[in-house]
Amino acid sequence: MIEPIIKPIEAIIAETRKEIQPFVFKRLEARTPRKAGEKIARTITVTSGKGGVGKTSLVANMAICLAQAGQRVIILDADLGLANIDVVFGIRPKHCLMDVINGDMNIDEVMIQGPNGIQIIAGGSGVSELAELEPDKAARLFNQLRFLEDKADFLLIDTGAGISEGVISFCQAADQIVVIATTEPTSMADAYGIIKIISKRRPDSHVSLLVNRVDADEEGVQVYDRVARVAEEFLGFQVHHLGTLPQDRNMHLAVRQQTPLMLFSPMSPAATGLRKIVSQAFHELPEASPGDGIEGFFTRLAKLFKGGSTQ
Ligand SMILES: Nc1ncnc2c1ncn2[C@@H]1O[C@H](COP(=O)(O)OP(=O)(O)O)[C@@H](O)[C@H]1O
Ligand SMILES: [Mg+2]
Repeated sequence: MIEPIIKPIEAIIAETRKEIQPFVFKRLEARTPRKAGEKIARTITVTSGKGGVGKTSLVANMAICLAQAGQRVIILDADLGLANIDVVFGIRPKHCLMDVINGDMNIDEVMIQGPNGIQIIAGGSGVSELAELEPDKAARLFNQLRFLEDKADFLLIDTGAGISEGVISFCQAADQIVVIATTEPTSMADAYGIIKIISKRRPDSHVSLLVNRVDADEEGVQVYDRVARVAEEFLGFQVHHLGTLPQDRNMHLAVRQQTPLMLFSPMSPAATGLRKIVSQAFHELPEASPGDGIEGFFTRLAKLFKGGSTQ
């Protein structure tokens, strides 16, 4: 049965704020006072290795959840193959990062307004272009990206399937990486595969595993335990546990309505689970340090695309 929306959206938002805000404030207070120009936006790359496990759904709904808790969120759709964050939101972007690189538009002009004040940037062909930027284009892009720093508390990056250099670079450049797996053995193997590469490239990466589409919570915990144990034993690398999301038919219905689940069915099992995960994730986030933030992210990214190293 499809769960009806039994509570008005305002009540849900108030509830979300109550759940999440103490943690947000705790974190922000820990960093205050924020000096002029200080970079505190967190950059989180969501990846999986295997496609179709819920990256885009998670990015969109996590963004809403954070936005409802009063956070300013920008999404970068860095999926070159099947960019579909716009499909989840029911928005069609006319422009992408390429237009900024070419100097045709300002970053403000390519950002699309999503629900709850979320801003979406379509990476488009601009993503691969980062590798080949001529100095004047790079300067222009970085000047523009600097404007984002004061506009966001979170930059969420949705990546494509597979373990391409591009995807790995987006992982290496971020403050935090969320790897999504399902209970399928192929998905677990792919999640481990990408964790292995990340652990070698940047051993100080903060990686959390989220197990999606489980029938029972214990199933998710078992998947986490297996992946984390193997990573610890063979790579000497710690994988954090982000949580578990249930298999939820509402997710599919929300996609069909081109409305994120958090808005389509805020009390559904997956939406409720995600709210819990997001509120707990605030505890785990490492504090911001110099070189963090959106500018730091893109600076590292450009170096990586050019074949450099962040170490
Ligand atoms: N928890 C869930 N329960 C049921 N279906 C889900 C869940 N998470 C994702 N899906 C569905 O899985 C499909 C792929 O999700 P998507 O977010 O596009 O994955 P990816 O970005 O990893 O390719 C979509 O049809 C989505 O509705
Ligand atoms: Mg996707």
